[in-house]
Amino acid sequence: MIAPSILSADFAHLAHEAQAVASADWLHVDVMDNHFVPNLTLGLPVVQSLLKTTDIPLDCHLMIEDPGRWAPPYAEAGAYNVTFHAEATDDPVAVARDIQAAGGKAGLSVKPNTPIEPYLELLRHFDTLLVMSVEPGFGGQSFIPHVLDKARTVRRLVDAGELRLVVEIDGGINMDTIEQAAEAGIDCFVAGSAVYGTEDPGATVEKLRQRVVAVEARL
Ligand code: DX5
Ligand code: ZN
Repeated sequence: MIAPSILSADFAHLAHEAQAVASADWLHVDVMDNHFVPNLTLGLPVVQSLLKTTDIPLDCHLMIEDPGRWAPPYAEAGAYNVTFHAEATDDPVAVARDIQAAGGKAGLSVKPNTPIEPYLELLRHFDTLLVMSVEPGFGGQSFIPHVLDKARTVRRLVDAGELRLVVEIDGGINMDTIEQAAEAGIDCFVAGSAVYGTEDPGATVEKLRQRVVAVEARL
């Protein structure tokens, strides 16, 4: 799956920017509160408006404090997947349950230097794992390859039938780095600047998808 991140899109024309990537599997929406990360983007009202303008399932990535309070309303509003950060809460399972009770898929995200081992057991309560391959907060940063070890660990558990979840990666994904991420067993690839920084974002989504298909064919 390919999930273009609208963080690199034109915020004044989000409906048009969503339309430009109509074949995307998920549309990735980065919510930042200027507390959990040193940047501020958009919140629930913008997500509610986006939901009215696009049929692409919204993948909301909440880089915020207190997700227990703020995350479930995104699911209530109709976001398909709502991901929050492991580092932002003491009780990730409770937050996941609230998101799921509100009708959404629940995702757990880990920053590049957060180990995955402490979370392996509780991942069975989640639908998605979002492995950050840059420090959250900004688009256009370079891919950090060592995070792929976490993806491989979780991929093995999924393949062994011990976990059932979408393994997603976010940060620095482009036509080059997507290959190593695909080899590590990633299911869903977020790409911001690599998609919206090009002349034809829709065509770029297809090119990224073809790269993944090519890697999978030779694995
Ligand atoms: C960063 C965000 C990403 C961002 C990725 O904190 O979570 O979703 O849009 O941007 P690129 O693909 O440019 O690294
Ligand atoms: Zn993101």
